[in-house]
Amino acid sequence: MTVLELDDIDTYYGNSHVLHGVSLDLDEGEVVALLGRNGAGKTTTMRSIMGVTPPRRGTITYRGEDVAGLPPNEINARGISLVPEDRRVFPTLTVHENLVLAHKLAADPRPVEEMYDLFPVLDELRRSRAQNMSGGEQQMLAVARALVQRPSTLLLDEPTEGLAPVIVDDLREMLQDVVDQDVTVLLSEQNVSFAFDLATRCYVIDTGSIVYEGSIEELQERDDLLERYLAVSPEEVA
Ligand SMILES: Nc1ncnc2c1ncn2[C@@H]1O[C@H](COP(=O)(O)OP(=O)(O)O)[C@@H](O)[C@H]1O
Ligand SMILES: [Mg+2]
Repeated sequence: MTVLELDDIDTYYGNSHVLHGVSLDLDEGEVVALLGRNGAGKTTTMRSIMGVTPPRRGTITYRGEDVAGLPPNEINARGISLVPEDRRVFPTLTVHENLVLAHKLAADPRPVEEMYDLFPVLDELRRSRAQNMSGGEQQMLAVARALVQRPSTLLLDEPTEGLAPVIVDDLREMLQDVVDQDVTVLLSEQNVSFAFDLATRCYVIDTGSIVYEGSIEELQERDDLLERYLAVSPEEVA
């Protein structure tokens, strides 16, 4: 069943036309990757879905309802949560305070303790202030904070950005547990091998247009696309 469908959306920043007829859909429980280089339009796609930068044209349908044009809090209330690329955890609050705050603001939250079961690292860091934690730990906190809201759809915007390779490995393992849960995920990434490990299907975006849609296996065979749009050599993702 289709949960989220973008149909031919155009999104602008002022006069700057950034997304050109983007269409994509997510089925219930799927993990779909949105791949593309820096500036390709991944974040703008996420912002369009959340209503932060609503599309000027086209439709966004969530569980049968046209949500394009709704304010972000309304879209969030319908079950879509975004983990933004800059993470935006509250730096001076502890892990626990960040999670309790998210819990308080959610309509139907999951118990905070469930997040500690899911992320044992955060359990150990309960009393640490976010600003004193590593980028990877802050990313885990950002994901946990989104999951507390019991989203049915999670938008993860470049979770590996700026993380050391060893931390990316931890994050991959942890996200594997998250995606095994009952949640539909749109994962934007430049780190192609990371996305390939988690997703089953993908879109490639370039200069605001979708240039590929299909299975990971198919894309792995498309050396031309990998090199042209993702700037990776085929060996890197074999
Ligand atoms: N706030 C903004 N105002 C104007 N242009 C922007 C803004 N944010 C992004 N852009 C432009 O939109 C395009 C897509 O950016 P973005 O969606 O952030 O790409 P990605 O997330 O794939 O790196 C880029 O050309 C970028 O310069
Ligand atoms: Mg981005």
